[in-house]
Amino acid sequence: MRSDDCGGKGRLLRHKLAVKHKDGHDIPVSFSGGIIYDQDQEIATFGLFTDLRALKQIEEDLEQTHNMLMQSEKMAGLGRLAAGVAHEINNPMSGIMLYANLIQEELGDDHHLNEDLQTIIREAERCKVIVADLLEFSHQTNYEMNPVALNDVIHKTITVLQHQPIFHNIEVIMELEENLPAIYGNSIRLNQVVMNIIVNGAQAMEGNGKLHILSRCRANHDINEIRISDSGPGIPDDLLEKIFDPFFTTKATGEGTGLGLSVSYAIVKEHKGSIRVNSSPESGTTFILRFPVVMDTLTGENND
Ligand SMILES: Nc1ncnc2c1ncn2[C@@H]1O[C@H](COP(=O)(O)OP(=O)(O)OP(=O)(O)O)[C@@H](O)[C@H]1O
Ligand SMILES: [Mg+2]
Repeated sequence: MRSDDCGGKGRLLRHKLAVKHKDGHDIPVSFSGGIIYDQDQEIATFGLFTDLRALKQIEEDLEQTHNMLMQSEKMAGLGRLAAGVAHEINNPMSGIMLYANLIQEELGDDHHLNEDLQTIIREAERCKVIVADLLEFSHQTNYEMNPVALNDVIHKTITVLQHQPIFHNIEVIMELEENLPAIYGNSIRLNQVVMNIIVNGAQAMEGNGKLHILSRCRANHDINEIRISDSGPGIPDDLLEKIFDPFFTTKATGEGTGLGLSVSYAIVKEHKGSIRVNSSPESGTTFILRFPVVMDTLTGENND
């Protein structure tokens, strides 16, 4: 405070410090202080410590909001592109399937080329599934929205998945809050979201580890949250911002198309919800889904 360097003689302005909490972690504070003089005589000093935790939180929230906005803009652009490509591919694909089927009928089941034709048809069908995903991603599909119980969605997904070989050595821990209020949505689409995230988790753990699924109501019963955590290797920081991009995959060709999360992202947006991810090599990956609860008083309006 006696030097001239920090805001003038006798003053120390907004100096960033860290104060140790009794449990050992640092609390960021801002310190301002000064010397009170009587003529040239120092007679007192004073100091103000301001706890910066709330401010830090606001800054982090702002940054996250900014990132989410960037992501939705990017998605909108990619969505238009994807929809265009999907429509273009749909017609020739239908042609390929139609003619392959015609040839197959003509040649009969016993023909030695039948297996090759089956392959053509199967691969063309795979393309159609990808195209359907793309259209989904770009909001080019319509579906009915109803009040949905998220716990039912989770149960249904697990029932389907638990018999898949990749889940045999995965311990599934469910912690579902009872009497969760309904959200407004389409249970088949929501199934798809939960399934994509769970399958990703299982694949990341290579079939060995713990999958933790939690549901709860938050924020004064306004929001339902689902957290899906795996004990896998986590997602490297530099890939985190790419995982929701269509066709981004780290999996081998044929194993993943990279559409799972981009489609999930689009579906969650259609449900006025949010999707976030936390990941680290130590704790694995957690996907956090949030959906607004259906207001009881508005059910008439919402059921339209
Ligand atoms: N739980 C997870 N742990 C580690 N990495 C993950 C996890 N979930 C997603 N990822 C990463 O994000 C990428 C994109 O996931 P996404 O579901 O969109 O596509 P995919 O699983 O590769 O292919 P698809 O879902 O189309 O079969 C994955 O390839 C993987 O690298
Ligand atoms: Mg996937």
